[in-house]
Amino acid sequence: MAPPPPTSSGISFRSADRPLDNYQFTFESYLDDSSRIEPDVSYHFPNDAPENDRVEEQYAIIEMVLDGRLHLAPFSRANPPRRVLDIATGTGTWAIEMGDQYPEAEIIGTDLSPIQPTFVPPNVRFFIEDSSDDWDYPNLFDFIHTRLTTGCWSDMKTQIIQRAFDHLQPGGWLECQEIPSMVYCDDDTLPDDWGWLRWTREFQVAGRLANRDLNAGPDIKDWMCEVGFVDVHEAVFKIPINGWPREARLKQLGMMWQRNLLEGLSAFSLGMFCRFMGKTVEEIELSLVDVRKSLFDRDVHAYHKLYVVWGRKPEAA
Ligand SMILES: C[S@@+](CC[C@H](N)C(=O)[O-])C[C@H]1O[C@@H](n2cnc3c(N)ncnc32)[C@H](O)[C@@H]1O
Repeated sequence: MAPPPPTSSGISFRSADRPLDNYQFTFESYLDDSSRIEPDVSYHFPNDAPENDRVEEQYAIIEMVLDGRLHLAPFSRANPPRRVLDIATGTGTWAIEMGDQYPEAEIIGTDLSPIQPTFVPPNVRFFIEDSSDDWDYPNLFDFIHTRLTTGCWSDMKTQIIQRAFDHLQPGGWLECQEIPSMVYCDDDTLPDDWGWLRWTREFQVAGRLANRDLNAGPDIKDWMCEVGFVDVHEAVFKIPINGWPREARLKQLGMMWQRNLLEGLSAFSLGMFCRFMGKTVEEIELSLVDVRKSLFDRDVHAYHKLYVVWGRKPEAA
């Protein structure tokens, strides 16, 4: 049979009128239950277009919280990092902005999913990998960074912080920017049965069943010290859960955060609650109605915490 004619781009495609006569399909003859292909369920949240849009908006929120600073570790234009690793880089925005801010640095971003853009500064590269597996980098880094990796690890201390220590050159810095899922309140306006709080508790139960830490943040400072980092600093920022604060900037921040949480709620819930709590999609969506409603209650003065923790590998290590 003659090959199909080349397209205008010069590439040949199999056409619809060429049946796959020469192919023998053998799937049914050898596949039984014991050879079921299990999906990779290392990460229980989606990486689709709506989630990537939400992650981008989340990026803008963190940027606002940090007053536009990409990091709090003591690098600057006068003292730039040289080799930077961004673990679980997501859509890669932090890595790209680091590449622009520090043109002399080499920036590597890694993620489970290939969701990073193709056109990036020449000093930025992305690799697909599971960072909970062994790291295999030929050279040491002088700055390693994580941001919003809740649900990525079963044990952030051994999987990430210890490995970061091992892959930093002496004097290099690790910075973790993480938001634990727990909500906080300073003025007793958070009722025990408030929808989002009930959801948070259930989410954390699912996290334990999934062997995923959904509360990394308050312990990071201790983990860094235990692993051997020195000069460890912690800064904690409050992110209001909706527009309840009086102060204009915090009100705006809260409204942005509320929108982001509402956008992400189904994505946070479906994989975790289906896989680990045995719920159906219908049951989950029904239960989320009240959770969404609760996020509009400005009488509840709840907030999340952003932990930014940075520490240095000692010169002598
Ligand atoms: C919420 S996104 C955060 C992305 C980015 N750091 C940011 O601040 O925008 C979490 C990312 O972690 C990635 N991820 C999850 N588990 C991972 C793993 N074991 N190794 C590498 N990346 C992982 C996911 O694919 C997802 O893109």
